[in-house]
Amino acid sequence: MNDTSSPQRNSDGVVSVAAGRGPLAMEAVSLGKDFRLGRGDVLHAVRGVSFGLYRGAVVALVGESGSGKSTAARLLAGQERPTSGSIRLGGVPVDVSSRRAFRQYKSKVQLVFQDPFSSLNPVHTVRYHLERPVQLHQGKRGDEAAREVAALLEQVRLTPAGQFLPKFPHELSGGQRQRVSFARALAARPSVLLADEPVSMLDVSIRLEMLGLLDDLRRRFQLALLYITHDIASARYFADEVLVMYAGEIVERGPAEELTQRPAHPYTQLLVASAPDPDNLGSALRGGTARAGRQPAATGPATQGCPFSPRCPLADDRCRTDDPPPRRVSAVRAAACWRLDVAAPGILAQSQGGGT
Ligand SMILES: Nc1ncnc2c1ncn2[C@@H]1O[C@H](COP(=O)(O)OP(=O)(O)OP(=O)(O)O)[C@@H](O)[C@H]1O
Ligand code: SF4
Ligand SMILES: [Mg+2]
Repeated sequence: MNDTSSPQRNSDGVVSVAAGRGPLAMEAVSLGKDFRLGRGDVLHAVRGVSFGLYRGAVVALVGESGSGKSTAARLLAGQERPTSGSIRLGGVPVDVSSRRAFRQYKSKVQLVFQDPFSSLNPVHTVRYHLERPVQLHQGKRGDEAAREVAALLEQVRLTPAGQFLPKFPHELSGGQRQRVSFARALAARPSVLLADEPVSMLDVSIRLEMLGLLDDLRRRFQLALLYITHDIASARYFADEVLVMYAGEIVERGPAEELTQRPAHPYTQLLVASAPDPDNLGSALRGGTARAGRQPAATGPATQGCPFSPRCPLADDRCRTDDPPPRRVSAVRAAACWRLDVAAPGILAQSQGGGT
């Protein structure tokens, strides 16, 4: 991709560690999405979200159910129109207003869903699912298309390809279906892959293997990968940068290892504390996932002040009236919290002392 857009410093003043992997592919700038709920009520599903996706890098979007992760992914995929803000692909503002423009956009930006069963058509074979995008996006026909379809199946390790081509989705295991979904996404030859909880519906025994496959595809095709999950342990294992989302906002961002080892925001601290064993991802993925992230919290976000204030042990009067803006806590980290001096004194002291 011809990328001329500038880096990399987000609106909160931090630089993304993912930028070290490759050029900026896609950028969300102050992205917002409201849903009208009737009787004049409005739900702010995504609010002021800004981040970049870089070729060859994984950015994880982590948060509990209802935090706005899928809405953000649908906005980036061009399936929803933003209420505010903008999306840039290769430095150019995205316009998907015509069918043709949307199709061209889809050849660059692909979305893979959580449930491969519902995203594959039960009446069509694997061959059909892959041939169509190969024809549509690559313009290949006949033998050329057949060779490309076989190559795609090999790339997602469904071999021998001939064995899988005539199968219908119900004849495949969950993992095999998700591999077909990955292959279908790759058929478009995208630069950006948006993976919305790609392993959370799969058997726990194959989640690690599937993340390994995604990582391999990322490297091989220099994909800019957005990995959406409620499971912060898998984000630590898999991502370069982690964005923690709560009530539609990014409340903390930073390098995956650093952020999960030393979370600054009280909500990130809760997510890490609720993960089964953040130090041992293998056991976390094999034994289940962070249940705190799976379920919506019993107490919803505040509509005034800091959204996390009803659940935050550190909330004070200011938290209940004013929503904190993101604050730079190091060259590569930011958190939206008024009380970082109490929540993360060590991290602040380090950054004020000149550390990164
Ligand atoms: N089309 C819609 N109309 C109205 N509200 C919506 C719509 N789509 C999403 N929402 C609401 O927006 C909020 C964010 O939803 P979203 O699906 O983005 O969350 P999520 O973080 O992906 O959650 P999960 O982990 O359960 O997938 C939720 O409160 C949801 O009910
Ligand atoms: S701003 Fe206040 S309520 Fe919000 S996370 Fe920080 S301490 Fe908690
Ligand atoms: Mg979702």
